[in-house]
Amino acid sequence: MNQFVSPKKIFHGEGSLSKIDEIIRETNVRKVFLLTDPILMELGVIQPVLQILEKEKTQVHLYTNVIPEPSLEIGNLVVDEIRESKAELVIGIGGGSALDLAKAAAVLADNAGRLEDYLNLSGSKKLINKGLPKVLIPTTAGTGAEVTDIAVFSLADTKDVITHEYLLADYAIVDPVLTYTLPPRVTAASGIDAFTHALEAYTSIQATPLTDTLALEAMRRIVGNIKRAVWNGKDKVAREQMALGSLFAGLSFFNAGVAGVHGLAYPLGGLFKLPHGESNAVLLPYVYDNIWPSCIEKMVQIAKVFNLPANEKNDREMAQAVVQSLLELVKEVGLPTTLAEYPIHREDIKRLAENGMKQTRLLRRSPKPLNLESIEQIYQNAYEGVLTNR
Ligand SMILES: [Fe+2]
Repeated sequence: MNQFVSPKKIFHGEGSLSKIDEIIRETNVRKVFLLTDPILMELGVIQPVLQILEKEKTQVHLYTNVIPEPSLEIGNLVVDEIRESKAELVIGIGGGSALDLAKAAAVLADNAGRLEDYLNLSGSKKLINKGLPKVLIPTTAGTGAEVTDIAVFSLADTKDVITHEYLLADYAIVDPVLTYTLPPRVTAASGIDAFTHALEAYTSIQATPLTDTLALEAMRRIVGNIKRAVWNGKDKVAREQMALGSLFAGLSFFNAGVAGVHGLAYPLGGLFKLPHGESNAVLLPYVYDNIWPSCIEKMVQIAKVFNLPANEKNDREMAQAVVQSLLELVKEVGLPTTLAEYPIHREDIKRLAENGMKQTRLLRRSPKPLNLESIEQIYQNAYEGVLTNR
């Protein structure tokens, strides 16, 4: 028996941002805490939202101090401000960091203590109250943060999460128009992040028929459109398909989970401040180069996503061809494919592997169990850019 969980309402498609007025009327709130990124204010992305809120005669407490890969300190500042604001609804608009901060702070607003009390690895408290209702609106395609109940925080040498059903959005709005201004590198990194969500969900040991369907469809849309979206940000069709692909991937991985790529990416973000999407991209081919023999039937299905010709290849050869396609995908969207292209040195690999081992919540979903030795080998291969092609 399986279950599938998602936000109460998801609005998606071009122009769906306008549904905010319906949400304000449905929730009957008068005071909104709007949390976003300063760049989005500058780009004029937030102004239509402010106009709708003004038309609905809603008082807005605007918070624009979101920084990428937020620390607990930043998160706790948001919690303090939201508690003081006495807001009745939280709207988060932005990339994964803004949405994660919005959901964690909305819940903490009505629970005692600080963010660190509720961390997955080191926290000691349990959330008692549901917190304020939340509207999550992504401007990247994407982290999938609008449909998950996870908030990620950067610690000194790795990352940790707060995860609880209370963090799930009451409303998610996925409007591709908001992604038109995304620069190419962010489009590439967030797009590969979304692809990784779908792939890891598809090969997760917790995958279900429902998550598999969403994951395959997500991969198909992302592989078919990511290059167009990177090369021409104004390509509306590509942006729409990327937004949908990211949404499907988010729903899929929220229910089936991500695994080794994300687990080993966390220390790259924590120790070396690599952006989340790039940390995944640079590890993606090397993790699958290691684990494909444990999910070979699914790798054969993924070959169809890449339109790889069967050409009398056996399943092993098809799986290897998929690993090669992963490397090419990352390369073609212009992202680094080796750790050596970042300020990371060979001597750092041991520390990375020891940190990666701690991500047991993620690693346990890998179709192939990963130990310290195999994790070190994966980082080593990612450093050198070597696929073993066994
Ligand atoms: Fe991710």
